[in-house]
Amino acid sequence: MQRTLVLLKPDAVQRRLMGQLIARFEAKGLNIIAMKMLQVTPELAKQHYAEHVDKPFYPSLESFITSAPIVALAIEGLDVIKVVRDMLGATNGLSAAAGTIRGDFSSSRQMNLVHASDGPEAAQRELSLYFEEAEICHYEPVL
Ligand code: CMP
Repeated sequence: MQRTLVLLKPDAVQRRLMGQLIARFEAKGLNIIAMKMLQVTPELAKQHYAEHVDKPFYPSLESFITSAPIVALAIEGLDVIKVVRDMLGATNGLSAAAGTIRGDFSSSRQMNLVHASDGPEAAQRELSLYFEEAEICHYEPVL
């Protein structure tokens, strides 16, 4: 079993897409093991997007990710990091394939609704930014 971090970004919250997006992960058979709504601070944004802080688009990215609340999800499942990344689609909603979350709901590179960890190290680092280990829930899913 693997864990990943998913963020429903401010545009997902403001467009009232939270339920539809969470339903996709549940329909796929993935287990949500922690979930919270929060306001990202500039400090948290810099930690989360550490690899992008020096890029030209970072100021705009920070402004967007701190502009309204987000929902953070810890999701567990077999090969979940890749499964979720595939479900999200390409970064730019305009080129994301139809049937993916971004392909179906976004036409923007920045306002692309969702974030998901891109590998096991990122998943561990990002999960620890949003959740204490004690906040991770354990239960037997009904198949
Ligand atoms: P995300 O998966 O959260 O990871 C980094 C984010 O930076 C990405 O989604 C986009 O929202 C944003 N991003 C990546 N490249 C660009 C870019 N060239 N211009 C603006 N935003 C970008």
